[in-house]
Amino acid sequence: MNASLNSRMLFKAALAGDATLRPPFWVMRQAGRYLPEYRALKEKYGFIGIVKNPEAAVEAALQPMRRFDFDCAIIFSDILAVSEALGFPYKFKDGGGIILERRIEKSSDIENIESAAKDVKAKLSYVFENAKLLRSALPDKAVFGFCGAPFTLAAYMVEGASSSGFPRFKEFFTKQKALYRRLANALEEALASYCTEQADCGIDAVQVFDSHACLIPEGHYMDLSGSHVARIFKSTHGKVANFLFAGGMSQRFGELLETNADAYSMDSKLSLGKIASSFSGRGNFCLQGNMDPRILAESSPHEVSQVTKEIIRDMRPYKRHIFNLGHGITPDAKLENVEAMCEAVKCYSDKHE
Ligand code: CP3
Repeated sequence: MNASLNSRMLFKAALAGDATLRPPFWVMRQAGRYLPEYRALKEKYGFIGIVKNPEAAVEAALQPMRRFDFDCAIIFSDILAVSEALGFPYKFKDGGGIILERRIEKSSDIENIESAAKDVKAKLSYVFENAKLLRSALPDKAVFGFCGAPFTLAAYMVEGASSSGFPRFKEFFTKQKALYRRLANALEEALASYCTEQADCGIDAVQVFDSHACLIPEGHYMDLSGSHVARIFKSTHGKVANFLFAGGMSQRFGELLETNADAYSMDSKLSLGKIASSFSGRGNFCLQGNMDPRILAESSPHEVSQVTKEIIRDMRPYKRHIFNLGHGITPDAKLENVEAMCEAVKCYSDKHE
């Protein structure tokens, strides 16, 4: 065990299952509204203005790194950048959530997406520039690129907005199976080329966000979503580590394994230690997670520190662990709690816990 590993080496060691003094860590949505410096940047450029300006996007990604010195950074963008490039621009709803300028209504919409998918990369060059700049700004940190899973992007494109239950999309993938499959195939093609291009920018990992995976009926994850994710991972295999965040799926973890991800990012509904002990015979995957983001908003620094250490302690025997939250950090997270979490990870020692 080497105490002098830099963050990038620590990240690679955790993925490989090598013994480390502590797990590497970062936080989903680590650049965002809980940070006063992010709110100031957004005041100046607007959210989409930041995303489309590589210098501003790199600044947003670096803000949490300066404050908390996480081991991993994630490029600042949004999963909806890709649906926008396919002809579905998005904006913010008053009172929260997002809305798309149009939604999928008929089969000719899908034809248009199929043809736009062929050269989607040309419209996303600002993301690749952003990735290259972030890579060179952080040579010793692990850098993540990302995209939405075809299923989750399809949810927004069919529903036309964020929604709690996506009823229109549920009806679409249940009753219009052939159209859903064409849409998912077109998105898979676009996302595979998008992720390969990000990988070629020198980043270390790609995380596919399947945030709405839990809409899928039990036993059908691979059919409706995972088979597409698996093919995206095939296109980046060997270039970067492939991460899958599948929202609400910790209790159905076994369904995810055929995607062949290198790492699975889990929600907070089940202890990571339990998942590790139940499934460790099923491959050499790494687990990422899974502190409940509500704790950062609602508890005290002392409680945060205790929960952080507990999750780490549980995962020590398994080794392949990257500490993170079970979902994105919320705008009401308290900075002193984020600090307590960071301290607890960085000072973790098997001797004292
Ligand atoms: O540090 C980071 O992780 C920043 C990069 C990032 C953002 N979105 C920026 C963002 C990433 C990785 C995402 C992923 C994303 N976007 C997901 C998957 C993760 C998840 O939360 O499940 C989803 C579903 C989206 C779509 C999306 N983007 C919605 C539904 C919303 C509105 C809801 C909200 O949180 O307000 C967004 C907006 C968004 N994306 C914000 C940020 C920082 C908030 C925008 C703001 O500043 O007002």
